[in-house]
Amino acid sequence: MKKITAFAIIAALCALIVPPSRAAERYNTFLFGVAYYPEHWPESYWEQDATRMQECGVNVVRMAEFAWAVMEPTEGAYDFSLFDKAIAVLARHGIKTILGTPTATPPKWLTQAHTDVLHVNADGRPADDQSRRHICYNSTVYRDYTRRIVEAMVKHFKDNPNVIGWQIDNEFNCENHECYSEPCAIAFRAWLKKKYGTLDELNRRWGTRVWSQWYTDWQQIKLPRQTMSFHNPGLMLDFKRFGSDSADSYKSLQVAIVRRAQPDAFITTNGVFKGIDYYQFARDLDIYSYDSYPTFSDVPQYGNGASYTATRGFNGRWMIMEQQTGPGGQTYLLRSPRPGEMNLWAWQAIAHGADGMLHFRWRTARRGAEEYWSGVLEHDNIPRARYQEFKKEGAEINRVGRSVLGSQIVSDVAVIKDFEAEWVFDHQYFTHEVSVPASVGCFFQAASEMKYNIDFIPPAADFSKYKIIFGPQLVLMDDALAARIKRFVEQGGVFVMSAHSAVKDRDNAMTDQVVPILLTDVFGVERDEFNCYQPPSRGKNDLSFEDGAAVPVNVFADVLQPKGAQVIAVWNRDYLKGRVAATEKKVGRGKAVYYGSFFNTDAARYLLKRYAAEQNLQPIMTGLPKEVEVTRRTKGGVNYYFILNHASEPVTLRLGAGYFDMLAEQASPATVTLKAFEYRVLRK
Ligand code: GAL
Repeated sequence: MKKITAFAIIAALCALIVPPSRAAERYNTFLFGVAYYPEHWPESYWEQDATRMQECGVNVVRMAEFAWAVMEPTEGAYDFSLFDKAIAVLARHGIKTILGTPTATPPKWLTQAHTDVLHVNADGRPADDQSRRHICYNSTVYRDYTRRIVEAMVKHFKDNPNVIGWQIDNEFNCENHECYSEPCAIAFRAWLKKKYGTLDELNRRWGTRVWSQWYTDWQQIKLPRQTMSFHNPGLMLDFKRFGSDSADSYKSLQVAIVRRAQPDAFITTNGVFKGIDYYQFARDLDIYSYDSYPTFSDVPQYGNGASYTATRGFNGRWMIMEQQTGPGGQTYLLRSPRPGEMNLWAWQAIAHGADGMLHFRWRTARRGAEEYWSGVLEHDNIPRARYQEFKKEGAEINRVGRSVLGSQIVSDVAVIKDFEAEWVFDHQYFTHEVSVPASVGCFFQAASEMKYNIDFIPPAADFSKYKIIFGPQLVLMDDALAARIKRFVEQGGVFVMSAHSAVKDRDNAMTDQVVPILLTDVFGVERDEFNCYQPPSRGKNDLSFEDGAAVPVNVFADVLQPKGAQVIAVWNRDYLKGRVAATEKKVGRGKAVYYGSFFNTDAARYLLKRYAAEQNLQPIMTGLPKEVEVTRRTKGGVNYYFILNHASEPVTLRLGAGYFDMLAEQASPATVTLKAFEYRVLRK
């Protein structure tokens, strides 16, 4: 634990030493490129690869993120010559490199000699080392080896002018989000000691009198592996927090090494997975990278858009490190993107603020686990349709990238995305219909349909920028958050909070106060009782609003007692008929709204429409159909409009005069027809 603390201190110091403005200096080009694996192909391919990449407008590749065994084939024998050569070949074609640290894939000499570096599954079995991500963040042995390979890499590459950035590891928590190893158990006890100080305090706050779980020795605390019955929610939430801190400190240990050696290179890491508080995780990175595989989503227009919005919220700066290029899968196979969709998805990410676009991958692998994950080129290396799409995208991005780089999405609407609240529901999941991410995501869809920009924000964000904020399932409440909600509404905002908010403290313990705790005055309401509908809950009840609208219940049905608030909806059937379902109260210049169910898309649409009208929100554009998305990025007083046709049919839009078409480099006609999956980038 001494080591973890030391690393955390180094990382914190680094974050202090390096002012945030440096991030903009370090990441200062709109990057377009691709993941490249020169180690998988004969050297005779490289020159042609680089020539073709240049032809496609590529200005950067990412490489080496899985190549530990190439760079250190036996312990201590470093050999970076393959990458030196590949970087030089690319550089001759004007292509820079982002290097990945290879810690997602330890070499066999390491895992065979030190089994305590391995990730351990919930049933106590160590992970097999014949794949990737089978490592434990808290293994002191693994941390030592990590330090050595990262130090060796940066020492070797730091003066190479063609290495402009670093990706730390690859996809933290993908495939390994909860580790139950002995090093993790030791680190967890140390983490708890630091948090609680004494066992008495821990016992009190976890409530260990229940089921005789009273601990009398720190050694008795184990990781929450499989048990005969259920675990303590206090333990479960702390385990999640600990897991997030473990990933974070492991990442920061690498960030600190790279930062020291090459202060001008930008540092990122990629991917968004379970079990990490990304607001914390992204704080010492210059830019966060999302890996985008839209065909995992049923409706990429909304699924992907919501993921992009979430990623933008981590530290304000983001890019795509891996954009899906074709059909893919390892053992399964996802649907193929239709012609044009790959480009559309890339532009959708840029529309939501991405400041860089790299595709996965240059050429599909012939061997190994990912023989079916399509690259720009197929196994036979012959340029086909995907190559042409990629080339078109490169030309377009190079036309527009410099102008939009660093421009901001300015939104009047926000949704609080609280990772801790999500973790509470990971354990106490209630029914399979309950999903905090879905309750957040439905507002993306509603805002997108109504053509508003929207942000997902942490509970500690600056609320004053917004006119409407939604709080889905804010199950954990504390004084600071309650005070910020109060200030927001007093100053003119509308805050809409869902059922099952403000029922617990941050120990994940139920309150003995009237719900919503700390907020009954602000909302002017008390929760009388809650009711839970089993799936499918839709259709079992509706919230019936005074304006005639009916919104279907989503799992929870709260019954409310107004204490100064005005009733705006009642339950319209079942044993709850006529009981109060939603209220609003004017507070200062704003409004506090209690919505007595979990949010769903119907609720998001109704509530956003209602309060957008009250707050006089102006849509970005009017008259566009649902499948045409529009966002606006702004820089230096200039607005950039991204208009994306997600439909497989053409659509004609009357946009009006005065726009400049940045892709066509000419004034845009007032009426525009977009083909299937086509888009425009306009300036005004
Ligand atoms: C990402 C990962 C890549 C590759 C890709 C396609 O999640 O970072 O290494 O596996 O998916 O499966």
